[in-house]
Amino acid sequence: MRRPNSYICSALVALLSLNSVDAFYLPGAAPHSYEQGEPVNLFVNALTPMLSGKNEPKLKSLINYDYYNPQFHFCRPQNGPQSQPESLGSILFGDRIFNSPYDIKMLQDNGTCKTLCVEPDIPPEDAKFINDRIREDYALNWLVDGLPAAESKIDLKTGDLFFDMGFNLGNDDDQEHPYLYNHYEIVLRYHQPSPGNYRIVGVLVWPTSRGDSHEDTATPNCEGDVRPQILSESYNTTIRYTYRVTWNESDTPWATRWDNYLHIFDPRIHWFSLINSLVIVLFLCVMVSMILLRNVSRDISRYNAIDLSEDVQEDWGWKLVHGEVFRMPRYPMLLAVMTGNGAQLCAMVGVTLVFALLGFLSPSNRGSLATVMMVCWTLFGGIGGYYSSRIYASLGGVDRRKNAFVTATVLPTLVFIVIFLLNFFLLVAGSSGAVPFSTMLLIVVLWFGISAPLSAVGSYVGSRQGGVSHPVRVNQIPRQIPPAPKYLRPWATMLLAGILPFGAAFVELYFVMSSLFASRAYYAFGFLALTAGVVSLTTGTVTILFTYFNLCAEEYRWHWRAFLTGGGSAIWVLAYGLFYWASRLSLDSLSSVALYLGYLFLLVLMDFLVTGTIGFLASYWAVRRLYSAIRVD
Ligand SMILES: *[C@@H]1O[C@H](CO)[C@@H](O)[C@H](O)[C@H]1NC(C)=O
Ligand SMILES: *[C@@H]1O[C@H](CO)[C@@H](O)[C@H](O)[C@H]1NC(C)=O
Ligand SMILES: *[C@@H]1O[C@H](CO)[C@@H](O)[C@H](O)[C@H]1NC(C)=O
Repeated sequence: MRRPNSYICSALVALLSLNSVDAFYLPGAAPHSYEQGEPVNLFVNALTPMLSGKNEPKLKSLINYDYYNPQFHFCRPQNGPQSQPESLGSILFGDRIFNSPYDIKMLQDNGTCKTLCVEPDIPPEDAKFINDRIREDYALNWLVDGLPAAESKIDLKTGDLFFDMGFNLGNDDDQEHPYLYNHYEIVLRYHQPSPGNYRIVGVLVWPTSRGDSHEDTATPNCEGDVRPQILSESYNTTIRYTYRVTWNESDTPWATRWDNYLHIFDPRIHWFSLINSLVIVLFLCVMVSMILLRNVSRDISRYNAIDLSEDVQEDWGWKLVHGEVFRMPRYPMLLAVMTGNGAQLCAMVGVTLVFALLGFLSPSNRGSLATVMMVCWTLFGGIGGYYSSRIYASLGGVDRRKNAFVTATVLPTLVFIVIFLLNFFLLVAGSSGAVPFSTMLLIVVLWFGISAPLSAVGSYVGSRQGGVSHPVRVNQIPRQIPPAPKYLRPWATMLLAGILPFGAAFVELYFVMSSLFASRAYYAFGFLALTAGVVSLTTGTVTILFTYFNLCAEEYRWHWRAFLTGGGSAIWVLAYGLFYWASRLSLDSLSSVALYLGYLFLLVLMDFLVTGTIGFLASYWAVRRLYSAIRVD
C-alpha cells in the first residue's frame, strides 16, 4: 500500500514535470486513426549508445550511426532508404529518420512470423564493426506513428512499469562472441476510441538472437531452439532478419500514450534538489538581508548624519570610493559585448522554459526544444544589441559602431567554429551525427542573416537612448587601492560565490547532462524552471554581496569582478562536467572525447555568459541605488 501523501507527492511531481504533454499538440501531431489493414509505417532513426552496466551504468561512446550505414548490413527498402523531413532541432540533436522495409498493416498478420531479408556475406571487417558497436551497447531507435520503440522495464525502486526508449543492437554478456539480435518481437498496442478506428498507443520490441534461422530459408521460424547469432571476424557470415508483429489492445487513450515513456526515475531526487535549492536561497536571503540591509542603512544614515552636523570627520567604507565607482573599467567593449550576448541568452533560456512549461515542447514534436532555442536566439538578437550598446555607453565607451559589429558577430562565430570542429570529428568517425551542409547553411543564414541585423537595430536603438545616468561624479585622479583581503581576489570570489548557484542546481544539472549525452528523455521542465529561477536569484544576490564587500574594502574596480563573480558557477559546472566524464563515461575514441569536451565547453560558456550577466546587471543596479542614497558634496 502506498501512503496517501505519497500519492499527493506523485501528483505534484506529475504536475511539475510537465505531464501535461497532452495539453497542446502542434500541427502535425494530431492523432492518426488507422483503419483495419491500413499500412503502419515503421521509421528507423540513427543508432545511439545506451547507458549500460548493471551496477554503475556508463556510456561508452557519444557517436551516432546512421541506420543504413553500409557496415551494419540492415535490410533496406526496395527503392532504397528515403530520408524523412525533420525539424532543425531534430537534425541538430542527431535524428536521422529513414523509412524501412517492415510490412505492417493495422490488425493484420497477428503473430505471423515473417522474414525481412537475408543478408548474405557479411565480411569480417564489417562483422568487427558490428561487434564493436554491440560491445559499446548501441541501441536501435525505431519510430511508429511518432512513438519510439521501447523495451518494457520495471523500475526496481517503485515497481512501476515503464517503457525505456530504444532497444539493444545485440548482447555482449559473452565478451568473446557478442550476439547480434536478428529477430524482433514487435508488440503494437492500440486503442479503439470508436469502432473501426484504431490508434497506436505503445510500441514495444523484444529483440532476440537466432543463429540457426538462416539454415532453412524457405519457412521463417520464430520458435524453437535458440543458438545465438555470432558474427565471425574471420569469414563471411549470413544473417537472416525475422520479425513478428503482435497486436495488443490497450485501454491507454491516445492523449496519455507518452506517460509510460516519460518515467521519472526516483522523483524524490527532484524533490531533494528543489528543497536543497530552496534552503540555499533562504539562507542567502537571510544572510544578504542581514548584511546589506542592516549595514547599508546604518552606513547611509551615518554618512548623511555626518554631513548634516558638518562634523569634519574622515569618510570611511564604501563612501570613500564614491568618486571612483563609475570610472570606466578596463576593456569596456568586451564587458558590454559579453553582457549583451548574456542578456540575449537569458531571454532565450527564459522563453524556452516558458514554452516548455506550457507544454509546447511535447516529445511528439521531435527536437522542438532545440528548434525553439535556435529560433529564440535568432529573434532576440535585438536584445543583445540593445543591452550591449547601452552598457557600453554607460561605461563611457565611444566607438559605437565597432561595439555593434562585435556584439552581432563574435559569439555566433565562436560557437559556429566549435560546431564546425566537432562536425569535423564526427565526419572522421563516420558518424551520422555530423550536421549536414544544408543545415549548416541554414544556421549561418539564421545567425548572420537575421540575428545580426536585428542586433544592429537593437544597438542603434540602444545608442539613441544612451547610457544610464550615474548618481555620483567620477574624480579626476584615481584613488590608490589598498591591498584587498585574500578572499576578495577575483579567483577566490569566483569560486566562493559560484558554489551557491551551482549547489542549488547540481542535481538538475545531472539530469540535464544525462539527457544531453545519454539520450535519456528529460521532461521535468517544472523542476528545471524553478531551479533556473533559484539560480538567477542566488547569482544576483551573492554578486551584490561580494560587490558590497569589495567597495567596503575600497576596491572600486567592481565591474569586471561582478561579471566574474556572477559567472563563477561556470567553473563548478566545468569541474562537474569533468567529474561526470570520470564517473559516468568511459570513452575510448578520440572523437567521443573531443565531442564531449566541445559540448561541455559550449555549456560552460553559456552558463558563464548568462550568470555573469545576471551578476553584473544586479550589481550595477545595486551600486546605483547605493550611491544615490548618500549625499556627496
Ligand atoms: C565475402 O563477402 C564479400 C562481399 O560481402 C564477397 O565479395 C566475397 O566474395 C565473400 N567471400 C567469400 C569467401 O564468400
Ligand atoms: C494477437 O495475438 C495475441 C496472442 O497471440 C492475442 O493475445 C491478441 O489478442 C491478438 N490480437 C488480435 C487483435 O487478434
Ligand atoms: C497484451 O496485453 C496484456 C495486458 O494488457 C498483457 O498481459 C499481455 O502480455 C500482452 N501481450 C503481449 C504479447 O505483450
